[in-house]
Amino acid sequence: MTKRKLDNARVIITGTSSGIGRALALELAKYNCRLVLTARRAERLEELKAEILNSNSELNDQNVQIVVGDIANDDVRLEVLQTAIREFGGLDVLVNNAGVGAFGLFENADPDRLLQILDVNLISSIEMTRIALPELFKSADAYKQTKTGCAPIISFTSSIMGKVGAPYSSEYSAAKCGLHGFTQALRAEIKSKGVDVLTVSPGTTKTEFFDSVIDKTGMANWPAHKPVTPEYVAKRIVKSLKRGDHELVPYFWGEVLCVLNRISPGFVDRVMSWYA
Ligand SMILES: NC(=O)c1ccc[n+]([C@@H]2O[C@H](COP(=O)([O-])OP(=O)(O)OC[C@H]3O[C@@H](n4cnc5c(N)ncnc54)[C@H](OP(=O)(O)O)[C@@H]3O)[C@@H](O)[C@H]2O)c1
Repeated sequence: MTKRKLDNARVIITGTSSGIGRALALELAKYNCRLVLTARRAERLEELKAEILNSNSELNDQNVQIVVGDIANDDVRLEVLQTAIREFGGLDVLVNNAGVGAFGLFENADPDRLLQILDVNLISSIEMTRIALPELFKSADAYKQTKTGCAPIISFTSSIMGKVGAPYSSEYSAAKCGLHGFTQALRAEIKSKGVDVLTVSPGTTKTEFFDSVIDKTGMANWPAHKPVTPEYVAKRIVKSLKRGDHELVPYFWGEVLCVLNRISPGFVDRVMSWYA
């Protein structure tokens, strides 16, 4: 757990065309971070780049790079990393944020839905991390020697459903729970190399996530609950990156659910089955 300064850090954020990733890019631009923005919607990324450059005269065209493509594609992930190396000379912060959901009972699922959800939410984040590790280790060595710049960190956007599996979101819960297992293992493996790992578990956040789901054949009828804004989540993530936190749950009722699940998993199972 290392406290870090984010000023001028070299950052990759996946899933930056909307929601939490977009808000995080705007927040990190306030620290003059150099950013690689990536998602499939090119015009959204161009708009975001223009907004960042208009709001911060310290950053220039070269400081904000765009890579358009599907993060589940090996070549796109490589291009994202190579862009950071070519344009910024390396990488300090990797934010694996791109994600997509599906709402429906598992008994109605098909292999295609399962593979898409696992590919985008889990495998792409793990693979992006694997190819980026050598650059993050270089950044850690440089930081150890000079004590200047940004101590490296990897952030993963998981979900409350990565801590408590929820009905109608079985594959999504599986993917996000997978991220929790992976990040805990990775954190232990790379701590001594000087790279931190943050796992973020948002609760209901007002983004395009619910419109972008790849299937909506059924949904749990949860009690009404107020979403937080992506700007709020982004501010909390930045705070956690600076502090070197291991875990962040930026949603009050999400934290309550996690505590309940720890002390009384049987009760939480009963509650979940009411909504199935
Ligand atoms: N909103 C919530 O309530 C909530 C709760 C818990 C966790 N989360 C997690 O938070 C993260 C961000 O989601 P959000 O709420 O900000 O939703 P969002 O507004 O829908 O943003 C999702 C981002 O991921 C990108 N993306 C999706 N599939 C992609 C693919 N195959 N290749 C490349 N990029 C892809 C989207 O860009 P393109 O469509 O342009 O490719 C978009 O930029 C996700 O990991 C999500 O699971 C959200």
